[in-house]
Amino acid sequence: MHGRRTEGQLHAPLEAAASSGVRVCLPARQPPALPLPERPVPGTKFAAECPRWDHRPPALLSVGASASMTPHPNRRPNVPDTRDNLHEAFAGESQANQKYLAFAEQAERDGFPNVARLFRTTAGAERIHAEGHLKALDGVGATAANLQAAIDGETHEYAKMYPPMLQQAEQDGHKAKRMFGYAVKAEAVHAKLYQAALDAVRAGKDLLESRFYLCPVCGHIEFGRAPESCPICGAKGAKYILV
Ligand SMILES: [Fe+2]
Ligand SMILES: [Fe+2]
Repeated sequence: MHGRRTEGQLHAPLEAAASSGVRVCLPARQPPALPLPERPVPGTKFAAECPRWDHRPPALLSVGASASMTPHPNRRPNVPDTRDNLHEAFAGESQANQKYLAFAEQAERDGFPNVARLFRTTAGAERIHAEGHLKALDGVGATAANLQAAIDGETHEYAKMYPPMLQQAEQDGHKAKRMFGYAVKAEAVHAKLYQAALDAVRAGKDLLESRFYLCPVCGHIEFGRAPESCPICGAKGAKYILV
Protein backbone atom coordinates (compact mmCIF):
# COMPACT_ATOMS: atom_id res chain seq x y z
CA MET A 1 0.00 0.00 0.00
CA HIS A 2 1.07 3.54 -0.47
CA GLY A 3 -0.93 6.63 0.06
CA ARG A 4 -0.84 8.17 3.49
CA ARG A 5 -3.38 10.90 3.99
CA THR A 6 -2.56 13.95 1.98
CA GLU A 7 -1.53 17.11 3.75
CA GLY A 8 -4.84 18.67 2.85
CA GLN A 9 -6.72 15.75 4.41
CA LEU A 10 -4.56 15.82 7.53
CA HIS A 11 -4.94 19.52 8.05
CA ALA A 12 -8.56 20.05 7.08
CA PRO A 13 -10.10 19.03 10.45
CA LEU A 14 -7.59 21.14 12.31
CA GLU A 15 -8.16 24.15 10.17
CA ALA A 16 -11.90 23.68 10.63
CA ALA A 17 -11.38 23.53 14.39
CA ALA A 18 -9.33 26.68 14.24
CA SER A 19 -11.98 28.52 12.29
CA SER A 20 -14.52 27.57 14.96
CA GLY A 21 -12.51 29.46 17.56
CA VAL A 22 -10.61 26.54 19.06
CA ARG A 23 -6.90 26.92 19.48
CA VAL A 24 -5.22 23.93 17.94
CA CYS A 25 -1.81 22.49 17.40
CA LEU A 26 -1.08 22.00 13.72
CA PRO A 27 0.92 18.94 12.72
CA ALA A 28 4.26 19.74 11.22
CA ARG A 29 4.14 19.50 7.45
CA GLN A 30 7.05 17.15 7.16
CA PRO A 31 7.73 13.54 8.15
CA PRO A 32 9.59 12.78 11.39
CA ALA A 33 13.35 12.76 11.26
CA LEU A 34 13.62 10.53 14.36
CA PRO A 35 11.55 7.67 15.80
CA LEU A 36 8.52 9.01 17.63
CA PRO A 37 7.71 8.51 21.29
CA GLU A 38 4.54 6.48 21.74
CA ARG A 39 3.15 8.62 24.54
CA PRO A 40 3.44 12.31 25.38
CA VAL A 41 6.79 13.00 26.90
CA PRO A 42 6.36 13.38 30.69
CA GLY A 43 6.40 16.96 31.77
CA THR A 44 5.09 18.36 28.50
CA LYS A 45 2.00 20.33 29.29
CA PHE A 46 1.15 21.99 26.05
CA ALA A 47 1.04 20.88 22.47
CA ALA A 48 3.62 23.51 21.63
CA GLU A 49 6.11 21.76 23.88
CA CYS A 50 5.45 18.23 22.68
CA PRO A 51 8.40 16.71 20.82
CA ARG A 52 6.15 14.59 18.63
CA TRP A 53 6.47 15.81 15.08
CA ASP A 54 2.73 15.68 14.61
CA HIS A 55 2.13 17.83 17.66
CA ARG A 56 4.95 20.27 17.29
CA PRO A 57 3.50 23.26 15.52
CA PRO A 58 5.03 25.12 12.65
CA ALA A 59 2.29 27.54 13.58
CA LEU A 60 -0.41 27.80 16.20
CA LEU A 61 -3.76 28.97 15.04
CA SER A 62 -5.55 31.20 17.44
CA VAL A 63 -8.97 32.54 16.63
CA GLY A 64 -10.75 34.77 19.12
CA ALA A 65 -9.24 37.13 21.67
CA SER A 66 -10.03 34.90 24.66
CA ALA A 67 -8.56 31.75 23.20
CA SER A 68 -5.89 30.23 25.40
CA MET A 69 -3.44 27.43 24.80
CA THR A 70 -5.19 24.08 25.01
CA PRO A 71 -3.71 21.78 27.66
CA HIS A 72 -2.15 18.65 26.22
CA PRO A 73 -4.81 15.92 26.60
CA ASN A 74 -4.05 12.29 27.35
CA ARG A 75 -5.81 11.24 24.19
CA ARG A 76 -4.27 13.70 21.84
CA PRO A 77 -6.86 14.89 19.35
CA ASN A 78 -4.33 15.37 16.57
CA VAL A 79 -2.99 11.84 16.82
CA PRO A 80 -4.94 9.16 15.01
CA ASP A 81 -6.38 6.25 16.98
CA THR A 82 -6.83 2.75 15.55
CA ARG A 83 -10.14 3.56 13.89
CA ASP A 84 -8.57 6.60 12.25
CA ASN A 85 -5.72 4.38 11.12
CA LEU A 86 -8.14 1.83 9.73
CA HIS A 87 -10.00 4.50 7.75
CA GLU A 88 -6.73 5.76 6.35
CA ALA A 89 -5.43 2.27 5.60
CA PHE A 90 -8.70 1.26 3.97
CA ALA A 91 -8.63 4.34 1.74
CA GLY A 92 -4.98 3.82 0.84
CA GLU A 93 -5.31 0.12 0.06
CA SER A 94 -8.47 0.71 -1.97
CA GLN A 95 -6.71 3.35 -4.01
CA ALA A 96 -3.66 1.14 -4.50
CA ASN A 97 -5.93 -1.65 -5.75
CA GLN A 98 -7.49 0.59 -8.37
CA LYS A 99 -4.20 2.15 -9.33
CA TYR A 100 -2.48 -1.20 -9.86
CA LEU A 101 -5.34 -2.44 -12.01
CA ALA A 102 -5.01 0.65 -14.18
CA PHE A 103 -1.22 0.18 -14.25
CA ALA A 104 -1.74 -3.45 -15.31
CA GLU A 105 -3.85 -2.36 -18.28
CA GLN A 106 -1.14 0.09 -19.29
CA ALA A 107 1.56 -2.59 -18.94
CA GLU A 108 -0.50 -4.84 -21.27
CA ARG A 109 -0.75 -2.00 -23.79
CA ASP A 110 3.00 -1.39 -23.50
CA GLY A 111 3.74 -5.06 -24.22
CA PHE A 112 4.76 -6.22 -20.72
CA PRO A 113 2.26 -8.97 -19.89
CA ASN A 114 4.22 -10.30 -16.92
CA VAL A 115 4.52 -6.85 -15.40
CA ALA A 116 0.77 -6.58 -15.90
CA ARG A 117 0.35 -9.87 -14.01
CA LEU A 118 2.47 -8.56 -11.15
CA PHE A 119 0.32 -5.42 -10.96
CA ARG A 120 -2.87 -7.48 -11.00
CA THR A 121 -1.56 -9.87 -8.34
CA THR A 122 -0.49 -7.03 -6.08
CA ALA A 123 -3.85 -5.36 -6.66
CA GLY A 124 -5.39 -8.56 -5.30
CA ALA A 125 -3.18 -8.37 -2.23
CA GLU A 126 -4.21 -4.76 -1.61
CA ARG A 127 -7.85 -5.76 -1.95
CA ILE A 128 -7.34 -8.40 0.76
CA HIS A 129 -5.80 -5.77 3.04
CA ALA A 130 -8.59 -3.29 2.29
CA GLU A 131 -11.28 -5.85 3.04
CA GLY A 132 -9.60 -6.78 6.32
CA HIS A 133 -9.48 -3.14 7.38
CA LEU A 134 -13.12 -2.61 6.42
CA LYS A 135 -14.15 -5.63 8.47
CA ALA A 136 -12.09 -4.45 11.43
CA LEU A 137 -14.11 -1.23 11.19
CA ASP A 138 -17.29 -3.36 11.33
CA GLY A 139 -18.02 -1.90 7.90
CA VAL A 140 -19.71 -5.02 6.53
CA GLY A 141 -23.14 -5.84 7.92
CA ALA A 142 -26.15 -7.83 6.80
CA THR A 143 -27.21 -7.34 3.17
CA ALA A 144 -30.11 -4.99 3.90
CA ALA A 145 -27.85 -2.75 5.98
CA ASN A 146 -25.16 -2.91 3.31
CA LEU A 147 -27.67 -1.91 0.64
CA GLN A 148 -28.79 1.03 2.74
CA ALA A 149 -25.16 2.06 3.21
CA ALA A 150 -24.65 1.77 -0.54
CA ILE A 151 -27.75 3.89 -1.24
CA ASP A 152 -26.55 6.52 1.22
CA GLY A 153 -23.11 6.58 -0.40
CA GLU A 154 -24.37 6.81 -3.97
CA THR A 155 -26.92 9.46 -2.98
CA HIS A 156 -24.27 11.53 -1.28
CA GLU A 157 -22.14 11.31 -4.41
CA TYR A 158 -24.76 12.38 -6.93
CA ALA A 159 -26.57 14.88 -4.70
CA LYS A 160 -23.78 16.53 -2.73
CA MET A 161 -20.32 15.49 -3.78
CA TYR A 162 -20.19 15.58 -7.55
CA PRO A 163 -22.30 18.64 -8.48
CA PRO A 164 -19.85 21.19 -7.02
CA MET A 165 -16.90 19.15 -8.30
CA LEU A 166 -18.37 19.19 -11.79
CA GLN A 167 -19.08 22.90 -11.59
CA GLN A 168 -15.52 23.60 -10.46
CA ALA A 169 -14.01 21.45 -13.20
CA GLU A 170 -16.17 23.21 -15.80
CA GLN A 171 -15.05 26.60 -14.48
CA ASP A 172 -11.44 25.44 -14.60
CA GLY A 173 -11.82 23.89 -18.05
CA HIS A 174 -10.31 20.74 -16.51
CA LYS A 175 -10.58 17.39 -18.29
CA ALA A 176 -11.99 15.95 -15.04
CA LYS A 177 -15.34 17.44 -16.03
CA ARG A 178 -15.94 14.51 -18.37
CA MET A 179 -15.86 11.79 -15.69
CA PHE A 180 -17.44 14.01 -13.04
CA GLY A 181 -20.30 14.57 -15.47
CA TYR A 182 -20.66 10.85 -16.17
CA ALA A 183 -20.40 9.93 -12.49
CA VAL A 184 -22.99 12.38 -11.24
CA LYS A 185 -25.55 10.75 -13.58
CA ALA A 186 -24.41 7.15 -13.13
CA GLU A 187 -24.43 7.34 -9.32
CA ALA A 188 -28.10 8.37 -9.39
CA VAL A 189 -28.85 5.22 -11.38
CA HIS A 190 -26.80 3.12 -8.99
CA ALA A 191 -28.78 4.46 -6.03
CA LYS A 192 -32.04 3.57 -7.81
CA LEU A 193 -30.89 0.03 -8.58
CA TYR A 194 -29.73 -0.48 -5.00
CA GLN A 195 -33.11 0.75 -3.81
CA ALA A 196 -34.81 -1.91 -5.95
CA ALA A 197 -32.48 -4.49 -4.42
CA LEU A 198 -33.24 -3.26 -0.91
CA ASP A 199 -36.97 -3.48 -1.55
CA ALA A 200 -36.54 -7.08 -2.68
CA VAL A 201 -34.33 -8.04 0.28
CA ARG A 202 -36.71 -6.45 2.76
CA ALA A 203 -39.43 -8.66 1.24
CA GLY A 204 -37.18 -11.65 1.83
CA LYS A 205 -36.37 -12.10 -1.86
CA ASP A 206 -33.37 -11.86 -4.13
CA LEU A 207 -33.54 -9.60 -7.18
CA LEU A 208 -35.40 -11.28 -10.02
CA GLU A 209 -32.86 -9.96 -12.54
CA SER A 210 -29.61 -11.86 -12.87
CA ARG A 211 -28.07 -10.03 -15.83
CA PHE A 212 -26.41 -6.68 -15.27
CA TYR A 213 -24.82 -4.69 -18.07
CA LEU A 214 -22.12 -2.14 -17.40
CA CYS A 215 -21.15 0.70 -19.69
CA PRO A 216 -17.35 0.62 -19.76
CA VAL A 217 -17.15 4.30 -20.64
CA CYS A 218 -19.25 6.01 -17.97
CA GLY A 219 -20.30 3.37 -15.44
CA HIS A 220 -24.00 3.36 -16.29
CA ILE A 221 -25.73 0.07 -15.38
CA GLU A 222 -28.73 -1.56 -17.02
CA PHE A 223 -30.66 -4.57 -15.77
CA GLY A 224 -31.66 -7.34 -18.18
CA ARG A 225 -30.20 -6.19 -21.48
CA ALA A 226 -27.90 -3.57 -22.85
CA PRO A 227 -29.57 -0.49 -24.34
CA GLU A 228 -29.10 0.52 -27.98
CA SER A 229 -26.80 3.21 -26.72
CA CYS A 230 -25.83 4.45 -23.28
CA PRO A 231 -28.29 7.07 -22.02
CA ILE A 232 -25.47 8.88 -20.22
CA CYS A 233 -22.46 8.83 -22.51
CA GLY A 234 -23.88 7.59 -25.81
CA ALA A 235 -21.59 4.53 -26.06
CA LYS A 236 -22.92 1.76 -28.26
CA GLY A 237 -24.85 -1.01 -26.50
CA ALA A 238 -22.45 -3.59 -27.96
CA LYS A 239 -19.73 -2.17 -25.77
CA TYR A 240 -21.61 -2.95 -22.57
CA ILE A 241 -20.05 -5.60 -20.36
CA LEU A 242 -22.24 -8.39 -19.00
CA VAL A 243 -21.23 -8.85 -15.37
FE1 LIG B 1 -21.91 4.41 -7.97
FE1 LIG C 1 -22.08 5.11 -20.70
